[in-house]
Formats: sequence, structure tokens, C-alpha cells
Amino acid sequence: MDNANTWQEFMGVKAMVEKGLDRVPYRFIRSLQERPKVSQYEEKENIPVIDLQDQVDNSSFALSANLVQAIGRACHEWGCFQVVNHGIAPSTMNEMMEAAREFFELPDEQKMKYFTLDTMSKFRYASSFNLQKDKILSWRDFIRYSCHPLDDVVSLWPSTPSSFRKANVNFCTQIHGLVRKLCGAISQSLGLPEKYIEQAFTDYSQTMVCNYYPKCPEPESTLGVGSHTDPGWITALMQDDVTGLQVLHEDRWVIVKPIAHALVINLGDVLQILSNGKYKSAEHRATVNGSSDRISVVTTYGPSLDTIIRPAPEILLNGCKPVYREIVYKEYMEMILSGSLEDKRLLDFHRLEIQ
Ligand code: OGA
Ligand code: NI
Repeated sequence: MDNANTWQEFMGVKAMVEKGLDRVPYRFIRSLQERPKVSQYEEKENIPVIDLQDQVDNSSFALSANLVQAIGRACHEWGCFQVVNHGIAPSTMNEMMEAAREFFELPDEQKMKYFTLDTMSKFRYASSFNLQKDKILSWRDFIRYSCHPLDDVVSLWPSTPSSFRKANVNFCTQIHGLVRKLCGAISQSLGLPEKYIEQAFTDYSQTMVCNYYPKCPEPESTLGVGSHTDPGWITALMQDDVTGLQVLHEDRWVIVKPIAHALVINLGDVLQILSNGKYKSAEHRATVNGSSDRISVVTTYGPSLDTIIRPAPEILLNGCKPVYREIVYKEYMEMILSGSLEDKRLLDFHRLEIQ
């Protein structure tokens, strides 16, 4: 990887590390500005935690007014929160995590069957974000795949490891109800009808990304994933017990401390646009470390690809001017996937000129 043209022979960061490596190759080295520095972390800060105990057994769709308020505050102040007691069985989460680990532990040749540079592929194994376009590479291997409609996509997923399809189907099925509830609460917190986002769920998109961050000989010179925001409505992220995820809050990188069986919920760009900038999509990144590998499983919900994304007309009723122009979600995704994910300025590009 020390030669810009050798990515074609690349088998993944894990394979590169396993060949033996005591330095980070230069293509992975971040600028001084981007490098993670332990001293800049504000350890006292934590992202908000939303506890859904007592809510999940309740057959009603709606969350309590207190929770709606707490979720609204978290979306406004942080663009993210952790959710606990959310009703997804710990065994379902463990099995999903295990299926992801088993995939990354497959022999390289087997994983490479799914390697593609086509960023719109329905099942894709790759490294970094976009190996061809990223100026600086990221210290991760990942799989990214479409999860909806399940009946159409399951046959495109690997049949080895044998647990992979079942674990994914269970996880996707269970997480759906939680995402609907959270989107209901977010709609209400914006003063919109509870089913505002939910109504779009008759047709939506869901993708899963499983990330594998290998151990790194020089963790302070590189990143697992550089600073970015996620594209859709919301992302639910499950991390193992290794620290790595950080969220930018008031210009400081705050560590998202792993809580067993919690999910980290990040607001995506579409909700920033829908809320006309009232809520911010969370800017986040992942660091790596020298003592342990790390896995995360990330699922993003968004509108269907042909949806026009724009500020909610109901939010603009009080003479409020739209901050973002309209764009078809597919075009937005193509722009993100063809460039570098690590570019929050894409949202700025969509800002309307304020006259
Ligand atoms: C992502 C992401 C962070 C992590 O895949 O979009 O932000 O902790 N991952 O793995
Ligand atoms: Ni992300």
C-alpha cells in the first residue's frame, strides 16, 4: 500500500496487518490536525442516554412526553444519543456481532469474492471508504449491504459463515420496531405528527455496514473512519466493548463509551434537512488502538431512493425560510458514495444562498 497504484492487490487492512507491520503505511497517515490526541478528550462529557425501560412492553407506538422531550433535546444539542433497555434481545445482538466477526475471520480469498469498487453494489466488501478516491485511507475493512426488502436481498448475502443470514434477518426484523418508535418521537419533538417520518416507512431504505478495525501499530497517526455524518434519517450503531467511536460536540471529540447492549443513535443528514437545520446530523469518527481489534455493526434507515428530500413544509409554516434546497435521495447518496464520505461540506453545498 506504499505505492498509490497497488490497491488492486490489496486484500484488506486485516490481511495487511497479519502479514506483519510495525509502522502505519503512509497512505493511512492523517494530517496533524486530524490525528486523535488523547489529551484533547473531555472525559467528563458523555452523550445522552435514553432509557426505554417500561416503554417497550407497552403496545402503544408512542413514547411518553418526557422521553419525547429528552430525545428532542439530545437531537438538538448532540445529534446523537445512546438508547438502553430498547427491547432488542441481547442474544440477537450477540449473534449479529458474532456473525460479523465470523465473516471478517473468513480466509481472505473467500472475502475477496465480495470485493467490489462499485459503491452502489447490494453486497460489498471493501476497505477504507472508497479505495480509488480516498486521499487518505482508513484503518478498516467493512461490508455494506442493502437490507430492505428482506425477501429480495437475503439471497445476495453470503451463505458462509452459516449463521450470517439468520443473524442478520433476526437483527433487522427486531430493530425495525425500535427505529419506528424513535422516528415517531423525533417527529413529535419537532412539532410534527407522530407518524410524519413513519408514513414514509411504507417505502424506505435500510443498509447495514459491519466494520472491522484491526489492531494498529501506531494508532495515534491514523483513524478507523474519518470525521463524517451519516446520510439517512437515523443510524443505529452497535459497538463491542472496545472504545473507538467519538462524536464532535462543541468542537471537542467526545468518546462514546461502550455500554453493553446499548445502541448509539446518530441523526443523519436527511433529518437535518427535514428539520431545516434545527437538528444536526452528528459528526463522528472512529479511532483505532494498539491492543485490540474492534467491530461495529451500523444500520442506516432513510427514505426510498426516489424520495425528494427537503425541509418539512410544516416546519416552514411560520415564515421560516428553507435552509436547504430539494434533492432526490438517490442523487444525494450517489454524491456521497462517489466522493469521500469524510466530507461534511456536502450538506453545506446543499444550503441555499441566504439572500
Ligand atoms: C459508520 C461509522 C463508526 C464506528 O460506519 O458510519 O460511523 O464506531 N462507524 O464504527
Ligand atoms: Ni457513521
